[in-house]
Amino acid sequence: MTLKQLQQHYKLYEGYVSKMNEIWNIPNNAKDFPNSNSTYSKMRSLKLGETYALDGVKLHELYFQNMTGDFNNPAGEIVKLIKRDFGSFEDFLGYLKEVGLSVRGWAILAIDPLDNRLHVFGSDAHDVGAVWNSYPLLVMDVYEHAYFLDFATDRSKYIDIFIKNINWKVVNQRLRQYNLIKAAADSTRNLKNVPLYPVWALKGDDI
Ligand SMILES: [Fe+2]
Repeated sequence: MTLKQLQQHYKLYEGYVSKMNEIWNIPNNAKDFPNSNSTYSKMRSLKLGETYALDGVKLHELYFQNMTGDFNNPAGEIVKLIKRDFGSFEDFLGYLKEVGLSVRGWAILAIDPLDNRLHVFGSDAHDVGAVWNSYPLLVMDVYEHAYFLDFATDRSKYIDIFIKNINWKVVNQRLRQYNLIKAAADSTRNLKNVPLYPVWALKGDDI
């Protein structure tokens, strides 16, 4: 990928940071947001813009981090998990590519604490398809702005080049962070051996 392509992309990221700062400098004051309404209102505009900008900032930071800085040879714990959950490394890359071709925004390899397994999620926009509590390990931007200068409409070629530039050291670091968070969360959970849902099945002393 050319420096020009990356610089143009980075400008978009800076725009999200700027809007995020603008939004988070607005005081949380209910009196400034009268007549809130879910079709159109000042609060609705703010809340839609907030999640779009915030997810735009976070996803681009994860993306730029995991596609720069070398360490492009797949290695470490992540490779073992990929083989466990996708059959083979090649099968995973094929699946990631198909997800990347099928959505309009992002393809994200994440690990979810519900089953502790890897999943590739697809998203049509920054704030669409986000999965709460899932931990993003590898983020691929497939918006046209991510590749159009270098690859025009050839998204498939862009994805192939992206895959060759993945920083697997960063991906493994994120996996270690997830394992630490998961261990800490498990150690404080007081509902061991109790199904979380339905909650009405819980007895008083289970909670
Ligand atoms: Fe982007």
